[in-house]
Amino acid sequence: MSTYFLTTAIDYANGEPHVGHAYEKIGADAIARYRRLRGDDVHLLIGMDEHGQKVEQTASQQGVSAQALVDSLAATFCAMWSRLDISYDQFIRTTDQMHRDGVKALIERIFEHNPDDFYEKAYEGLYCVGCESFKQDAEIVDGKCVLHPTRTLERVQERNWFFRLSRYEDFLKRLLTKPSPFLQPESRRNEMLALLDRGLEDVSASRSRLQWGIPFPRPLSSGEVQTTYVWFDALPNYLTATGFPEGDWATRWPADLHVVGKDITRFHSIIWPAMLEAAQIPLPQRVWGHGFVLLGGERFSKSAGVRLDLDEAIGKYGANAFRYFLLREIPFDADGSFSWERFAERYNADLANAWGNLASRAISMVERYFDGIVPAGERTRVDEADVAGLVEYHGAMDGSRGFLLHEALKVVWQSVALGNEYVDRQSPWKLAKDPALRGELATTLASLMRQLARQAVCIAPFMPTKAAELWSQLGAPGTVGEQRFAALADLDATGWAVKKGEPLFPKERG
Ligand code: MSP
Repeated sequence: MSTYFLTTAIDYANGEPHVGHAYEKIGADAIARYRRLRGDDVHLLIGMDEHGQKVEQTASQQGVSAQALVDSLAATFCAMWSRLDISYDQFIRTTDQMHRDGVKALIERIFEHNPDDFYEKAYEGLYCVGCESFKQDAEIVDGKCVLHPTRTLERVQERNWFFRLSRYEDFLKRLLTKPSPFLQPESRRNEMLALLDRGLEDVSASRSRLQWGIPFPRPLSSGEVQTTYVWFDALPNYLTATGFPEGDWATRWPADLHVVGKDITRFHSIIWPAMLEAAQIPLPQRVWGHGFVLLGGERFSKSAGVRLDLDEAIGKYGANAFRYFLLREIPFDADGSFSWERFAERYNADLANAWGNLASRAISMVERYFDGIVPAGERTRVDEADVAGLVEYHGAMDGSRGFLLHEALKVVWQSVALGNEYVDRQSPWKLAKDPALRGELATTLASLMRQLARQAVCIAPFMPTKAAELWSQLGAPGTVGEQRFAALADLDATGWAVKKGEPLFPKERG
């Protein structure tokens, strides 16, 4: 059995989960569930980034201790991920002792293998607490960080530990140049290569005024013990989650895939591989930099009033429809907009009318014409088209063409459209009137049941609860989660006892 270790970004513990966080976890969860259906031994890691100035500041603004703030937010995030059916195997918190020990061990390992990679330097720069990073001139417009225009940049003058990132320029160029699959999609790779062409500056690895974090393992020559810079603390979570440096960490590491947003692709495709290389630890196989969910073309921003309430969005049509909408509407390799109108359209057209209706009428007809037992029936053009479509579905899900989750859904909905067209063309209600056409009726309904079963499996990564409901209405054996893609081409539904239940997606009233 192949193992598949995938991770998402760990979210900052400075506010409630929002739609952007949810989009990423849902996307990664769809990939994880897809891999399980292939038979892989999957490990999905998510978690929280609990240290740093941003968290420290939020706690002090709220008049609570940083620990109390992160404890309460970790509980809030976990509850949200359960509500959204995120099948995580591990939830790491950077305040965990195991993580703290692992970060220190990683930094020590860099000192051990490449002692010149850390050095002390007095530095002056503009720090964005929103990004938790120093900003270069090109990233500042009108005195503000382009990503956080409502925050004031802090002028920081400190003597810190620095990491010699510049030494890894050639290494990173090779890593990011085709045919290396390390960073995808292509747009992100090009952005990073352009950044490398402008030249890399060394980065600060410790901070002096920050209290809330992990002590940097070695004091400055002055004897001052500083705090590990929050990205040097956060990035290693993927490694420390395996238990590094203890036990059998190397059986899980390297990760197969890091799923992160485009704003932090730089940290994952430049700083993180350089840190690992410096420590002589294998690199993750791949970084996928997804785009952003926008609202009316703009980024969410509490202060700019661009808000979308996650609870309300889930409440509207339920968690599974929300998962479907986000992954269908917002391409996983680019930005896309959330809009209530599009959400309503997709719910009604794709879910209630197309898929839900296909399932409900096909199951009803098996009940009506065959006493609820799926008849035997030859394979039809519907089976052939679906099996051909599976190749495209896998290409969009397995990473070979990138993680184009929206395209995988498009392929499944082509199958749904074909199913509805097939029902209309075959008109089983007419076939049922003529006993001589009983064989044709059986062929039609058997083919539709096989199709719905295949659809349930392909949709399960996206809408696990709805796929399971359909699976049980079909009377199919076992659970949808236990199925394997490899068996889909030969799937046979003969003899299943269907039991029609509530509509999968109730129609909106009014
Ligand atoms: N704590 C860092 C990540 C450290 S990973 C070692 C961080 N946290 S975050 O809370 O700001 O963002 C978490 C993830 O959510 C990031 O991958 C980020 O790109 C993603 N998103 C935040 N807003 C988003 C949208 N509006 N749309 C899609 N994803 C977005 O960065």
